[in-house]
Amino acid sequence: MSNRSEKIKPDRPEPVRLNTEAFSVSKQSDPRDAAQKLQNGEYGVVEDRFSTGMAVLSELKKCIFRGKNKQDFAAYRDVRSLFYHASNRLLVPVENNQIALKKSPEIGWLKELYPDIETFMLTFPQIQGLNSSWQWHLRGIEYPGLKERIHPFYGTYFPTRFDHLRLFYNWLRQYSGKKTAAIDVGTGCGVLAFQMLNCGFENVAATDINPNAIISVKQHAEKTGLSDRIDSKLSDLFEAHNQKADLVVFNPPWLPAQKDTEGLDGAIYYEPDLFERFFSDVRNRLKEGGRVVILFSNLAESVGISDEHPVKKELQYGGRFKKIGVQKRKVVKASKKTKRRDHRKREFVELWELEPA
Ligand SMILES: C[S@@+](CC[C@H](N)C(=O)[O-])C[C@H]1O[C@@H](n2cnc3c(N)ncnc32)[C@H](O)[C@@H]1O
Repeated sequence: MSNRSEKIKPDRPEPVRLNTEAFSVSKQSDPRDAAQKLQNGEYGVVEDRFSTGMAVLSELKKCIFRGKNKQDFAAYRDVRSLFYHASNRLLVPVENNQIALKKSPEIGWLKELYPDIETFMLTFPQIQGLNSSWQWHLRGIEYPGLKERIHPFYGTYFPTRFDHLRLFYNWLRQYSGKKTAAIDVGTGCGVLAFQMLNCGFENVAATDINPNAIISVKQHAEKTGLSDRIDSKLSDLFEAHNQKADLVVFNPPWLPAQKDTEGLDGAIYYEPDLFERFFSDVRNRLKEGGRVVILFSNLAESVGISDEHPVKKELQYGGRFKKIGVQKRKVVKASKKTKRRDHRKREFVELWELEPA
C-alpha cells in the first residue's frame, strides 16, 4: 500500500552561515566570559573539546536561569527564549559527518542527514538535539499495545508519557465497529496507527505535515513487515488522502500557538484554524457508521494558557458532531526522580468519541 518509491526529503538543522566574526572558545577560555559574550550577541566557535562547549553552556544556564521561578509558565518562557538565542550562538564544527572536536559523541544522523556537505557548523543546542534523538533512535521505545519497539527518525514527535496511549489502546480493545480502514491524522512516529493495525484494522492511512514523521513511519512499517497495510503521506490534515474510514483518530497538538512561542513546534502548538479545518473535513472522510476519536488534555487550561477546549467548542457550536462518550485518565508521575511542576498534578488526558450529528 505504501508508496516506497516516493523519496521524502527530511528536515534537518540548517548549517550556520556566519557573516560576522566569531570568537574562539577553548579549554583556556573563561566560560563565564564566553557566556557573557554569547548573551551580548557575539558568536563563539568551540575549537578543542566537546566538554569545552558543555562548560560554557552550563555557565550560560546558571547566569540566565538563576533565581527564576519555574512555576510562572509565561515568565519562564521569556527566560527560556533568552537562553535559546544565546546558546544558539555557540557553534560546533562538523567534518566528514563527525563532530570535529575531541571526545565528542558519535551521532549517526550527521551521516544520514548531511550526505551532501562535508564541512559545516551547527549550533551547540542543535548538536545536543541530534545527539539525544540519536540515542532515542538507537534504544527505541516500547509502547503499550505494540509488539516491537519504535525507533523514531530524527525530528519526529514520539510520546515519552503513555497515558493517552493506554487510554486509546484500552478503548481500541473494546471497539466493536468495522475495521476495514482507519485514518491517523498527525501520526508522528505512528504509534496510534500501529496500535490500530495490531488491533485488527486491515489498513491505515497516516498523515503528517512533518516529512520526518512520514520517513519514521515508513521505516518502522518496513522493519515490521506492515508496509502493505499502512499508507503514510506528507499531508496537511487529510489533503493527500482521498479514502474513507471506519475510524479517524487525531491526537493533535494540545497547546494553542502564541505569537511569541519560540521555534514553534507543530507537534505541541496548534494554529487557530486547525480544529475548524479538521471538523469541517473529517465528516467527508467517514464511511457509513464511522467514528472520530480525538485525544486531548487539559494541559492548556492547567498551565493557564487558555481555557478554550476545541472539542467542547465543536460539540457546543459546530452542529456537525455529537458525543458518543468521553473517557479521562489522570496523568501519572513521570518518575520519582523528575521534579513535577505543580500544574502537572492536575493534568489529565481525554479520549473523545464522536459521530456525525
Ligand atoms: C501531539 S503529536 C501526536 C503524534 C502521534 N499521533 C501520537 O499520538 O504520538 C501531533 C502530530 O500532529 C502533526 N500535525 C500538526 N498539524 C498537522 C496538520 N495540519 N496536518 C497533519 N499533521 C499535523 C504534528 O507534526 C505531530 O506529529
